[in-house]
Amino acid sequence: MCKDAIVYDNKPKAVTLEAGHSYYICQCGRSKDEGVFCDGSHADTKCPTTCLPKKVDIEKTKQYHICMCKSSKNMPFCDGTHSFYTEDDIGKKVK
Ligand code: FES
Ligand code: FES
Repeated sequence: MCKDAIVYDNKPKAVTLEAGHSYYICQCGRSKDEGVFCDGSHADTKCPTTCLPKKVDIEKTKQYHICMCKSSKNMPFCDGTHSFYTEDDIGKKVK
């Protein structure tokens, strides 16, 4: 987790990822692509070297729960850490 990341949402987002594809998932919380896929917005962060996207190579096509609070210890997947955040934390820095 980057200390300068932003909480995009306080719950995960179910996204279907396809086998044989690689994806770059947003870890900074600033992507305008629904906060899921990196769109380069991390370049505006204060720590552009750590707020980089997380590359995942998918072996099985299925729905994955993408971490939208950007605080999971198993990025880019939800590990339940989001329960720590309320609606008021959305759009603010991770804690
Ligand atoms: Fe968030 Fe690239 S836009 S990591
Ligand atoms: Fe981030 Fe669940 S949405 S840990």
